[in-house]
Amino acid sequence: MAFNKRVKIQELFTQNQEGKEIVLMGWVRTKRSNKNVSFIALNDGSTIKNYQIVADPNKIDEELLKKATTGACLKITGTVVASQGAGQSTELVASQIEVLGEADAEKYPLQPKKHSLEFLREIAHLRMRTNTFGAVFRVRHALAFAVHKYFNDKGFFYIHTPIITASDAEGAGETFKVTTLDLKNPPLNEDGSINYKEDFFERETNLTVSGQLEGELAAMGLGEIYTFGPTFRAENSNTARHLAEFWMIEPEMAFYDAEDNQNLAEDFLKYVINYALENCQDDLEFLDKRAAEEETSKKADQRSEMGLLERLQFVVTNEFQRLTYTEAIGILKNSNHNKKKKFQYVVEDWGVDLQSEHERYLVEKHFKKPVILTDYPKEIKAFYMRQNDDGKTVAAMDILFPGIGEIVGGSQREERLDKLTQRMEEMHIPTEEMWWYLDTRRFGATPHAGFGLGFERLVLFVTGMGNIRDVIAFPRTPGHAEF
Ligand code: 4AD
Ligand code: MG
Repeated sequence: MAFNKRVKIQELFTQNQEGKEIVLMGWVRTKRSNKNVSFIALNDGSTIKNYQIVADPNKIDEELLKKATTGACLKITGTVVASQGAGQSTELVASQIEVLGEADAEKYPLQPKKHSLEFLREIAHLRMRTNTFGAVFRVRHALAFAVHKYFNDKGFFYIHTPIITASDAEGAGETFKVTTLDLKNPPLNEDGSINYKEDFFERETNLTVSGQLEGELAAMGLGEIYTFGPTFRAENSNTARHLAEFWMIEPEMAFYDAEDNQNLAEDFLKYVINYALENCQDDLEFLDKRAAEEETSKKADQRSEMGLLERLQFVVTNEFQRLTYTEAIGILKNSNHNKKKKFQYVVEDWGVDLQSEHERYLVEKHFKKPVILTDYPKEIKAFYMRQNDDGKTVAAMDILFPGIGEIVGGSQREERLDKLTQRMEEMHIPTEEMWWYLDTRRFGATPHAGFGLGFERLVLFVTGMGNIRDVIAFPRTPGHAEF
């Protein structure tokens, strides 16, 4: 006999089920009892809203009701009736309760009170049962779905690029090694270095930092593609914006120049944010209130001027500010902030990499809207970016968001074989090993462009959460690989 003949709580709020006998299954959030009646707030994850169960101790065995403590999992059969109390239009009068899983009230870590996010991170296996994390992960799902819908509707193809690679696309040397060699006793070459010919892949391999290079190969045949997969970076930055394992969306388009790329990125970001606004109303309203409460505990000058929902609306309805790196350096250099040495890194010379404090100054203080920064110095960007005619800059773009800083990085790609190989040599990237990448420039090359959106940074922005560890189910950061 099939077990799952239940109604999801979400359906009870969207369809009138009054008078029907139904089965609900879910976890007890709270229970209030007196001699005559027990009220159980049940949540099954389908919505942020709990559903009220009314149990009459004369009809439901008292021992059973005692076990229906916070955290316990119940199966309840009953009739949907109009509710007497305020706060809900209907409720379930229980005729039968089955305890699927007890939760020892003394030991259950999630008590019906406010817990800190830091504490909840330590019990990430249970935090999905809280209002905040239920909301975050429903919104995350909606955003992932919107990503696929956006590209599918535009005729892009979803490509699955490899997770194990032999290249370091960004060239930043932050890869995690993949090996089956015995680390205590690795085979050595005569010069004492490790002999990777004896390793599983007969070469040195690592976890991918980006699907872009393989994405470019695919775009050179399929036209417009996107990837959406996990990427791995061993950068030891313990910030609220960095993960060692994060998900990236990387569209790559043949016949696109830098401006086409910017247009697509802006349209795409607005689409997915708008999708969340339209499809996650209850969760976003909850997160909006949550974020507003957080704001009150911040110093006055660090509070954001807009609430979460307001900020999301603002981003989807306003044009992003586009300017070059050179223009941005001018603004930063001449800012009072810089003159008064309020930046930790004072901006002096053209050519320096922008720190997150500079990016946030541009977005939050100067323009007060999302910014697309273009044409960075070639020295601070990856080898594959298309070289501009000035000989100094490349056709890069970074998109900067309020509260986040960089959310997207991308560029038009260098499609000219001679320029590309020259740049690779300058940057000591072995051209022989990358023969397959260079082949796309040897055979049927065309202007093309693409970008990468850090999915967790998007989820961070849309949910208004403050730490990237709270928008991925089981975060991987330096020193943390529990669960
Ligand atoms: O700017 P990045 O390094 O660009 C690339 O990887 C290109 N291959 C993308 C492309 O053109 N196809 O990374 C892209 C985005 C960043 O803007 C940021 O949002 C996110 O990925 N990101 C991280 N997110 C979380 N944790 C980290 N450690 C991240 N590093 C980058
Ligand atoms: Mg970047």
